[in-house]
Amino acid sequence: MKYIVNGGNKLFGKLEVDSAKNAILPIIAATIMCDDECVIEDIPLYLDVIEMCAIMEKLGKNITISNGNLVISGTLSSTSVIMAETKTLRSSIFMMGSILSKYRKAIFTHPGGCDIGKRPIDIHLDGLEKLGLKYSIANDLIYCDASKVCGSVIELSYPSVGATENIMMASTLIEGEMTVIKNCAREPEIVELARFINSMGGKVFGAGYETIVVYGVKSLHGTKFKCIADRIACGTYLIAGAMCGGRIEMDNVDPNFLLPLIVFLRNSGCNIDLFSDKIILENFSRLKSIEKIETETYPGFPTDLQSPMLVMQTVSKGISIIHETVFEARFKVVNELIKMGAKVNVSERYATVVGVSKLKPAKVKCPDLRGGAGLVLAGLVAKGKSEIDEIFHVERGYYNLETNLKSLGANIEKVE
Ligand code: UD1
Repeated sequence: MKYIVNGGNKLFGKLEVDSAKNAILPIIAATIMCDDECVIEDIPLYLDVIEMCAIMEKLGKNITISNGNLVISGTLSSTSVIMAETKTLRSSIFMMGSILSKYRKAIFTHPGGCDIGKRPIDIHLDGLEKLGLKYSIANDLIYCDASKVCGSVIELSYPSVGATENIMMASTLIEGEMTVIKNCAREPEIVELARFINSMGGKVFGAGYETIVVYGVKSLHGTKFKCIADRIACGTYLIAGAMCGGRIEMDNVDPNFLLPLIVFLRNSGCNIDLFSDKIILENFSRLKSIEKIETETYPGFPTDLQSPMLVMQTVSKGISIIHETVFEARFKVVNELIKMGAKVNVSERYATVVGVSKLKPAKVKCPDLRGGAGLVLAGLVAKGKSEIDEIFHVERGYYNLETNLKSLGANIEKVE
């Protein structure tokens, strides 16, 4: 599948932002800790969510979609997560914490995911080992035995999102034991996972801060839950509005989760109005470059918005230096952007972008999820017909992207 984009239209209108992919994925994994029915409301069918559900079904969970809600129940029939899907879906790693929490023994394939860096899982394994996990690795498989786990104090060497979530889940069912996790990631999606676990009867405190405390409980019960909006999708649409010009409103979002982006957009020349649950962006002028952009862990500027932001710099007036501190291989989109006339030079973790007055349409290929979204933004401003191929990357984390952009006035079609 590919997108055909005829660039040059301004964007006007409003969008309701869907639930966050990065909240939904660990929450789906967390349902493994509970046999009762768990309902996750208003679920957008990101490809990653569909793949995660497929893995869960193969492991024995019952999964249905009913009235737009994801309904999950049942007990696992297998704790061997060694399917082909786990190679492409890194989030399958979240099942490690939840399976070990409830079933104590498991085998995992070393997970894959977006090709944006080495993505090791040493921080996950070190933390789980401190809880008493014994594991061995052979032929790319990780054999885990958590039969002797107990509460512990764990200091993460880096605030990894996935490791924080895995250790939270792994300690949730260590009955009567307290686990303290220090140097945690503080992303809003971690707060969502904690809220979800607690809605099932778990006891997780401090999510969103540097230290999380988990009091282990005996079992969890069913729940009904709705996740926060996807701040990265929302940020991508805001950047689209800034680049194309026009006036767009993003509904159902908490602007607090996007403050670094909002500061950059305002410094670029956009007018932005913030409300408790919506953001309105207006721009009718050429954007100004942001001199220095550095990705950081939350609450800093998110690495997941780095590619869309880099694309915005390609058409802004001035020079921008972008420093990617989180993932080492997140500039793959640059080669494609150069085909569209962008002036970007990459040296290790730095990209220097010299803004040009316009991009030209081209045939390009999505290199990864966020880079692919960046190419769509480039297509929206390049006057004429661009073809953006390999959009399965984009659909892993954007739901109805073309429909949403069309509703704002963009000329974009998805074709075979
Ligand atoms: C999550 C998000 C992803 C986002 C990232 C950073 C989900 C499903 N994905 O990914 O969209 O880009 O957070 O905000 O929520 N690292 C190690 N060893 C480990 C774990 C991580 O070296 O054991 C490194 C990674 O290679 C990477 C950095 O730490 O360079 C950040 O990774 P991490 O925070 O774990 O990101 P993910 O949970 O994979």
